[in-house]
Amino acid sequence: MNHFLDIHKTDAADLRSMIEEGRRMKQARAGRTRGAPDDEQPLAGRMVALIFEKPSTRTRVSFDLGVRQMGGETMVLSGADLQLGHGESIADTARVLSRYVDMIMIRTFEEAILLELAEYSDVPVINGLTNRTHPCQIMADVMTYEEHRGPIRGKKVVWCGDGNNVCASFLHGAGQFGFDFTFTGPAELDPEAEFIELARAKGAKVEIEREAGKAVEGADLVVTDTWVSMHDSQSTRQRRHNLLKPYQVNEALMERAKPDALFMHCLPAHREEEVTSAVMDGPRSVIFDEAENRLHAQKAVMRWCLGV
Ligand code: CP
Ligand code: NVA
Repeated sequence: MNHFLDIHKTDAADLRSMIEEGRRMKQARAGRTRGAPDDEQPLAGRMVALIFEKPSTRTRVSFDLGVRQMGGETMVLSGADLQLGHGESIADTARVLSRYVDMIMIRTFEEAILLELAEYSDVPVINGLTNRTHPCQIMADVMTYEEHRGPIRGKKVVWCGDGNNVCASFLHGAGQFGFDFTFTGPAELDPEAEFIELARAKGAKVEIEREAGKAVEGADLVVTDTWVSMHDSQSTRQRRHNLLKPYQVNEALMERAKPDALFMHCLPAHREEEVTSAVMDGPRSVIFDEAENRLHAQKAVMRWCLGV
């Protein structure tokens, strides 16, 4: 049994084989309707609990659909409806759910909740986003980059803006998939030093460049995300906007990247804030491929977790 808790906690060879498996399963579905089952039904007879303590469109729909395509069933639970939200311990929740379901995917706030759930669960636990990381997104993003441009190893990825949870998982990805990573944003919103060190320890070249235009020079991939994440207090909104304005991804900034550079955003996006519509809807944008590939990459993650 494998938990999928973070990119840096998962064996690099296993991550690579999940990307290949996701690609293979996607190709095998070519021409089918979205709801049609896969030929292979590795999750037949399995029940997967999808727990959401924060809102979600992509994670909710892609996990639910992915389980069904592979022959399994899901129950989607909101944190507020569970006793978890009313004082039952995480450890007891994990022990109880393990008696009912075959796998648990959770989107939550503090990373400690995810880690405790995994510690006391007898079934695999998947991280569907915490305040600190979002590993499933990076699996989809690596798959998407490689579909368009071939191997990501050695490429230059530039993150613009807030050094948030998605940025953290990109840093982990730099170490595990072997790409270079440049962060450009205000010092106050730098990614955690621990994560930068982790990536460097794995041999990734990690740089911090305060000037966005300079940072994207030579970039193969430019990535951004919302300026205010779900766990950020709305009271910080104005301050964050002021700090992050110079890091908006617009056409002028993309002009300074390589001519074939791609643009990514995990979505949901705030158009004309962290990124302009011209970039989001422009020829370098692969944002909807990323969203689709959440489905395929996560199906491979779930098979790895269950060993099926
Ligand atoms: N990218 C992502 O995780 O989207 P949702 O918040 O809609 O799940
Ligand atoms: N950084 C964002 C990602 C949403 C998928 C958040 O945590 O709100």
